[in-house]
Amino acid sequence: MRKIGVLTSGGDAPGMNAAIRAVVRTAIYHGMEVVGIRRGYSGLLNEELEPLNIGSVADIIQRGGTILYTARCEAFKSAEGQQQGLEILRRHGIEGLIVIGGDGSFRGAQALHRLGMPTIGIPGTIDNDIPLCDQTIGFDTAINTAIEAIDKIRDTATSHDRTYVVEVMGRHAGDIALLAGLAGGAESILIPEQPYRMEDIVAKLERGVARGKKHSIILVAEGAASGIEIGKYLTEHTGFEVRVTVLGHIQRGGAPTARDRVLASQLGAYAVERLRAGETGKMVATLHGTLHAPDFDAVFTTPRQPDLRLYDLADMLSI
Ligand code: ADP
Ligand code: F6P
Repeated sequence: MRKIGVLTSGGDAPGMNAAIRAVVRTAIYHGMEVVGIRRGYSGLLNEELEPLNIGSVADIIQRGGTILYTARCEAFKSAEGQQQGLEILRRHGIEGLIVIGGDGSFRGAQALHRLGMPTIGIPGTIDNDIPLCDQTIGFDTAINTAIEAIDKIRDTATSHDRTYVVEVMGRHAGDIALLAGLAGGAESILIPEQPYRMEDIVAKLERGVARGKKHSIILVAEGAASGIEIGKYLTEHTGFEVRVTVLGHIQRGGAPTARDRVLASQLGAYAVERLRAGETGKMVATLHGTLHAPDFDAVFTTPRQPDLRLYDLADMLSI
């Protein structure tokens, strides 16, 4: 394989740049050329391609966002869009493609693989919602951003004897809420994977106040409920002073943590190795700490949940 392409797609995630750097440098180390495709599949269809060299990825390991930009692209969900993408890749002499993104981006990668383009996916999304994968690139940074915010909210919650509802990201997955809630000492955590009853949350808040607790933090994954709605409910059904904070896209930015940079470097290099070994239609990830490369088919059909033992632990510790 002489020339490969790399793109980032879907929501950005801190550490994507470190992954791009690892892809580019590993490929060059092995004597290959690398083409960066800007703005995901949308940029592919618009032929936004640029050659990348060692210097193109200098000074980016510490930066959030993605130097290749990212996008969502409806046109690539169609067979015509995918065929057009394949033809553009071929016309530019690209013999293999690395896609950094989430589940949706992997479906596009799977389509290109089925059309005969060797393709490997690298899990990059703050949501951590990919099966057969210990952690996705960006998740560690996102939960650290979230707990930094929760710690600050706790200060003002204490000063004012208030109840705070904090909504974090996670379109379908509760991992950010669960880990940030446990690490941030939240009283209740609402995630889409676990049913909850508002009556229980209110009862827990009231028990806390009865034993002298001055403030509470309730962490809500956006996929479970709207923080604003939870705030309204608590205001209407308790006598507490409630405030709501929606952390939003702050969780998607910022310098990646050391953990995300290391993971991104490992996965970027491993993705290039898989392509060089003639593999395609696979995701690279760590599972139980070891690098592996399951087929996209396995990734798409394996159910996944956050570690619900952590949910029980958080519940017990916030008694
Ligand atoms: P993520 O990769 O973070 O899950 P999305 O679900 O928004 O983000 O998907 C990113 C992009 O991947 C979409 O805008 C589209 O271009 C492509 N994509 C998503 N689903 C499919 C699909 N079923 N077939 C082909 N491409 C897809
Ligand atoms: O998938 C990552 C994510 O940040 C989700 O947690 C969130 O629901 C979504 O992307 C927001 O996407 P957008 O970039 O369209 O605001």
